[in-house]
Amino acid sequence: MIEVKNLAVKFGEQYVFSNIDLTIKEELITTIVGQSGTGKSVLMKCIEGLVKPVEGSITIDGEKIFQLKKQQLNITRKKLAMLFQGSALLDSLNVYQNVALPLFEHTDLSETAIKKEVKEKLDMVGLEGVLTKMPSELSGGMKKRVALARAIILKPKYIIYDEPTTGLDPIMAEEISDLILKLHSQSHITSIIITHDMNCIRKIKGNIVMLHNKKIVFDGTYDSFINEKSEIIRGFLK
Ligand SMILES: Nc1ncnc2c1ncn2[C@@H]1O[C@H](COP(=O)(O)OP(=O)(O)O)[C@@H](O)[C@H]1O
Ligand SMILES: [Mg+2]
Repeated sequence: MIEVKNLAVKFGEQYVFSNIDLTIKEELITTIVGQSGTGKSVLMKCIEGLVKPVEGSITIDGEKIFQLKKQQLNITRKKLAMLFQGSALLDSLNVYQNVALPLFEHTDLSETAIKKEVKEKLDMVGLEGVLTKMPSELSGGMKKRVALARAIILKPKYIIYDEPTTGLDPIMAEEISDLILKLHSQSHITSIIITHDMNCIRKIKGNIVMLHNKKIVFDGTYDSFINEKSEIIRGFLK
């Protein structure tokens, strides 16, 4: 479980948000929504330990991450996978090398075992016969799939998707949303999806947390979200 308590982040004199309380429950899907610039990515970077808040705490499976020593923080971080918006594949490595990289870095598996793991994960994300392709030869949707295979290769407990469908055409966007749901149901990974794409929100139907004007203005089920009467939420849903 991830617990965010009374979190506040400031850049210079400007607060991004304050008084943020949030619980990410295990094995569920939490969708963090809100307009651009409301601090969704900053909130996720705090959970990753990459941005330090000026107030508040984040606890991951009972450990307060901003109080951990570097070595312990790195162990806790390995429970979290992050799928960045731009896929962030290494252009000079082929698909196999990109997906295998975390295994080479963090395990002592044999090359044969690594090949097997990589093939299995590529299969899970619906890619076949692309092992020796370079990132430049792949479409945007395929790159996202490769990045996803790499994100799950160390079997993380949590996965954070930052705007997974942004910049994709509607068909590809729908495929990626389907894939997120499939991975979630197959691996019971706790999934956190940051998005402002209503199609993605409708498809995923996770627990919704909405950021607006430096605060959380909604935290509840998808069904209660779409039936909310508040003007802010009606405006977002339009
Ligand atoms: N490293 C940074 N330095 C200064 N301001 C930042 C930094 N990162 C984000 N911000 C500001 O914080 C606010 C929230 O950004 P962000 O979390 O990226 O929004 P979202 O992901 O919801 O679109 C924005 O106003 C952005 O300009
Ligand atoms: Mg963002």
